[in-house]
Amino acid sequence: MTNVSPVAPRVATTPPPLAMVIFGASGDLTARKILPALSDLANRGRLNERFTLIGVARTEWSDEEFQDVARKADASGGATWARLVESFRYVAGEYAATKTFDRLKEVLAEADKNQGTGGNRLYYLATIPSVFALVAEALAKEGVNRPGEGGDFVRLVVEKPYGRDLASALELDAQVHTAFDESQVFRIDHYLGKETVQNVLALRFANAIFEPIWNRRYVEQVQITVAESIGVEHRGGFYETAGALRDIVQNHVMQVLALTMMEPPTWMDAEHIRDEKVKLLRAIDIPSPDEAVDKAVRGQYQAGVIDAAPVVGYREEDDVAGDSQTETYVALRLNVDNWRWAGVPVYVRTGKRLPARVTEITMRFHEVPFLAFEGTLSRDLRPNMLVLRIQPHEGISLKFGAKVPGEAFRVQSVSMDFGYEQAIHDTGMDGYTRLLFDAMSGDPTLFIRTDEVEQAWRIVDPYLEAWAQPGGGLHFYNAGTWGPHIAELLLQRSGDAWREPDL
Ligand SMILES: NC(=O)c1ccc[n+]([C@@H]2O[C@H](COP(=O)([O-])OP(=O)(O)OC[C@H]3O[C@@H](n4cnc5c(N)ncnc54)[C@H](OP(=O)(O)O)[C@@H]3O)[C@@H](O)[C@H]2O)c1
Repeated sequence: MTNVSPVAPRVATTPPPLAMVIFGASGDLTARKILPALSDLANRGRLNERFTLIGVARTEWSDEEFQDVARKADASGGATWARLVESFRYVAGEYAATKTFDRLKEVLAEADKNQGTGGNRLYYLATIPSVFALVAEALAKEGVNRPGEGGDFVRLVVEKPYGRDLASALELDAQVHTAFDESQVFRIDHYLGKETVQNVLALRFANAIFEPIWNRRYVEQVQITVAESIGVEHRGGFYETAGALRDIVQNHVMQVLALTMMEPPTWMDAEHIRDEKVKLLRAIDIPSPDEAVDKAVRGQYQAGVIDAAPVVGYREEDDVAGDSQTETYVALRLNVDNWRWAGVPVYVRTGKRLPARVTEITMRFHEVPFLAFEGTLSRDLRPNMLVLRIQPHEGISLKFGAKVPGEAFRVQSVSMDFGYEQAIHDTGMDGYTRLLFDAMSGDPTLFIRTDEVEQAWRIVDPYLEAWAQPGGGLHFYNAGTWGPHIAELLLQRSGDAWREPDL
């Protein structure tokens, strides 16, 4: 019989009453992700009836104009959301001005009085990162970093990027921690809101067949691909300050890698899971900047063709410098120095304007010790592979050898596929919807703890440092290809090759 923990699972239906405040209320993320996610929660019956929203940004909107934006964000036109929207308020103001926060304090008190939000607050920093600390400190100065009368909690949700290197992340953390305790801080990585990322935990720890082979004895290499076919869209200005390493590797890739390769947690709760993730991140080798150059490739896309349509190069995109050195592609070779994974290379790549949008983790297993088939009959045989597809067509594929019908004993690789959608018929909530629900309910499991952020920056910092040198090794690739040719060489040196995703 299976031993199960005696702790009862927490099954929340609706979060407690609260007033949520969005900093960045007039911005892109609010319109495209946060408001649709909130309306989805409302229409699923997963928002408290005593929920209200307050938007804060510079744009001179009235309450009614903000309510209009919120209404339009709900494509379904749900009645519950429409009713809640009537209570939404908007504070127009600059975050550097005290009067913005004086006004916010009044509006919060009115929400408690009129909407019964009970002194509970959820602040969401969906604004530009350079003002994160300013806003957190202003909330503390105003005294609204503690619950209002009768309230139980105040939480601060923080968007990415959390710092732009280790030093700035530590500085931001120190500033945030003068205003909020770590237990109040919910750092978002929307990848963790994805069902299929969480499914990595189910696959590994709810099944008996995978964990015994999940180690260096059986796994020969691990590959993580986060490919996008889109370019920088309308966010060229932002991307110029980030690049692929900061935008994808430091956060999403490190999170996926940690969940895939960490030790089993004692219990599936926030502290145990995050303890294991940090332990795994600490085991990743950190090269010196000189060594980093050899273990990484950075690229930038040039004009090319995607889906049969011509697309411009990165340097021709809006708000991008004509001689930009920003990378839109990164490939890394990492090692995890612990008993489970020593000697197993972990190849990571991410890029924009690649041939397809696909995120997958591949565990490639060792070949059989001796192949007792005549060479020509087994030439189509590939090593066993387990592919965890995060997006799109979420699911799992197991690649193995099978006999081709006929007299000769010819073998070839075939695929056994599990599709999440077909099997479960419910892809669950969108990432932001799930994460907002968890933040309101006070469950930090899918949010990033301070030591995780810090460790992830420690890992990527040497690459940033190496690439900041003049001529920091930028390689070009045509849009619609799998990245610069030299990224192939990074693996060929060890006799390996990138797996071409099944499209
Ligand atoms: N957009 C995305 O797809 C996306 C995806 C993942 C993460 N994120 C993260 O989400 C955050 C917001 O991104 P975004 O794309 O929504 O940015 P954005 O469109 O530029 O919006 C920024 C918001 O912040 C407000 N703001 C900025 N400085 C202010 C100040 N000094 N005082 C008052 N208001 C100020 C702006 O108000 P006004 O315009 O009214 O002045 C606007 O509402 C960033 O941390 C970003 O990295 C965005």
